[in-house]
This record gives sequence, structure tokens and C-alpha cells, in this order.
Amino acid sequence: MQHRTLGTTGPQVSALGLGAMGMSALYGEADRAESIATIHAALDAGVTLIDTGDFYGMGHNELLIGEALRTTSEADRAKALTSVKFGALRDPDGGWSGYDGRPAAVKNFAAYSLQRLGTDHIDVYRIARVDPDVPVEETIGAIAELVEAGHVRHIGLSEVSADTLRRAAAVAPISDLQIEYSLISRGIEEQILPTARELGIGITAYGVLSRGLISGHFSRDRQLGAGDFRGMSPRFQGENLQRNLDLVDALRKVAESKGASVAQTAIAWVLAQGEDIVPLVGARRRDRLDEALGALDLTLDAADLTAIEEAVPAGAASGARYPESQMAHLDSER
Ligand SMILES: NC(=O)c1ccc[n+]([C@@H]2O[C@H](COP(=O)([O-])OP(=O)(O)OC[C@H]3O[C@@H](n4cnc5c(N)ncnc54)[C@H](OP(=O)(O)O)[C@@H]3O)[C@@H](O)[C@H]2O)c1
Repeated sequence: MQHRTLGTTGPQVSALGLGAMGMSALYGEADRAESIATIHAALDAGVTLIDTGDFYGMGHNELLIGEALRTTSEADRAKALTSVKFGALRDPDGGWSGYDGRPAAVKNFAAYSLQRLGTDHIDVYRIARVDPDVPVEETIGAIAELVEAGHVRHIGLSEVSADTLRRAAAVAPISDLQIEYSLISRGIEEQILPTARELGIGITAYGVLSRGLISGHFSRDRQLGAGDFRGMSPRFQGENLQRNLDLVDALRKVAESKGASVAQTAIAWVLAQGEDIVPLVGARRRDRLDEALGALDLTLDAADLTAIEEAVPAGAASGARYPESQMAHLDSER
């Protein structure tokens, strides 16, 4: 396994992380046994970074990861690093009702996460979206106290602007910013990525396959269940979907010329954007994980990168990356 370091103060992690969200929420039914087998396979393959959120299935995802960690080898468990998001408020029907970044809430969320994960610390802890009613300094200050007390090792951020990165980094060392970054979501390149680099903050890139859209496995006739994020995402609707899948067809030609799959090419492109970037892959099955790990063996030279960016030019995506109501919560889009 290749490794990368999260920022100048963060941990060394595998060059690809596993995002477990889809095993509990947002992408339709998931198979519990296969999910756990996928986490075990990832750890066996040397993946050390497992990303979750306490609100993914209202604790379901953390319990799942806790079970996977309990039932793996001691050696794999010792190497596993947990990256946990908190702050999103849910209701019993699965609804979303805002964010809570108050210091007392931060510690409350952390206490429950530690129980569900069955660990004595969280490796990287971050609020999923900044709470507009609480200065980010207060939220970061509360996590810094958790670090001081040994409950958390490193502080991360998620979907924040360059300005918020600076404010947070002035309070305590920040290991990484988790943010969407892919061939069709390149918004961070202008300001956020250069600022992260200036501050020595790493990037854990999510949505590197744009939630499956640019994986090469998505098709127009895919039936999406109720509550599947993609059923509400502008990029997966009508003509947007068709135009985006046309981009995937162009990418497929480049992938074939490299003897790689579309997903591997899309992941390898993100890996090639800098040693400070760690893609999180949202594999829910072992076959998808194997495919994703294959990206680590794909070397892209300058000509390959040019061909990929000609197939999927910056800004070519049709449709915003989130529905309008959710875009409003993205500090990174301000
Ligand atoms: N900070 C944030 O705001 C935020 C937001 C979203 C996600 N995240 C984190 O980032 C992680 C990754 O995000 P994501 O799940 O949206 O990423 P993704 O990797 O872009 O999409 C994952 C989906 O792509 C499909 N897929 C097809 N081929 C694949 C392959 N070879 N490997 C992996 N997936 C493949 C799968 O869908 P099917 O199984 O349906 O085929 C899978 O559910 C999440 O699990 C979560 O931990 C963070």
C-alpha cells in the first residue's frame, strides 16, 4: 500500500481511504455482511483510513464500523484510523434539521461516537458543515479540548471556504479538509486548495466518482430507491444526466487506451493532483473496492492527464453537485 500524510500535522494514512457512508445511507439498500466484508478486505489490503459520520444512518454507520473493527485481526485493528464527522441533526424519520457546532454539543457527539465505534479515541474529528450560529473558532476550540484530553487525535474540517480554513487554523492545527473533488467537481482548485497548501492542510477528497456518476457503472436506466441522494441530485436528472454520461463515454475511451476502467482512471486522476490529496472511495462491495484499489497501480503521465482533461474539461459537468437546499449549507460555496 502506498501512503500519504494528511497535512503537516496529520497522520500518515493509506493513499486511498474507504468512505463507509453508502453502507448505511443515501445510496439505497446496502448488504450488511458484504459491507463488513468490504471493510475487512480494505484493512487487509492496507487501507488504514475509514471515514464515517455519526449521522450516516443515525449511528448505524459507526456501529457497523465498530463491528468490523471488533471482528478483524488485532493487527488490522491497530492500523485502522477513524475519521468521523459530526454536527448534522436528524429526526426519527431520517429528516435533516440543521447543524450544531456548540462546544457542549461537540463533546456530546464525540462521547456517543466513541461508544458506537468501540474505540478509546477518534483519529480525525470534524464538523460536517459549519454551524452558521456558532463561530468556527468555538467549534474548533471544543475539538482541541478533546485532543488535549486524548479522545481525539487530529482536527479536520469539511466543505469550508478558504477564509474559514484560515480562521480554524489560527485556533489549532488542522490535519485535513474533507471536500468534494473529482474530474467533474473542480471548484476547490481556485482558492481552497491553494490556501490548504499554504496552511499545510491536507485534502481528503470525497465524491471522486461523483457518487457513482463517473464510475462507468451508472446508466440512465438505473432505478434509485426512495431516499437515494442521487434521486435528488441535479447531476443525475434528465438531460444533465445524459450530458454527464456523455462525458463518461469520452473518459472511457481514455481509460481503455490505458487498459484501465473508468473508475480507476477517475480515481487515479485525483491521486495525480498532489501528494497532499487522499481520495476516499465509497465502495460498498468487495468487487468495487478491488476495482478502486487498482487505481493505485495506474500511472498517468502528462499526456494521459491532458487526454483525461480533454475528455472531461473543467467545468463540463451539467448540474450543481448538491440540490439547492443543501448548497446553502456549504460554506465552501460562498
Ligand atoms: N464531507 C462530506 O460532506 C461528505 C459528503 C459525502 C461523502 N463523504 C464521505 O466520502 C465517502 C465517499 O463518498 P461517495 O461515497 O459519495 O464517493 P464515490 O466514491 O464518488 O461514490 C461511491 C459510489 O460509486 C459507486 N461505484 C461504482 N464503482 C465504484 C468503485 N469501483 N469504487 C467505489 N464506488 C464505486 C458506488 O455506487 P453503487 O454501490 O450504487 O454502485 C458507490 O456507492 C463517503 O463514504 C463519506 O465517507 C463526505
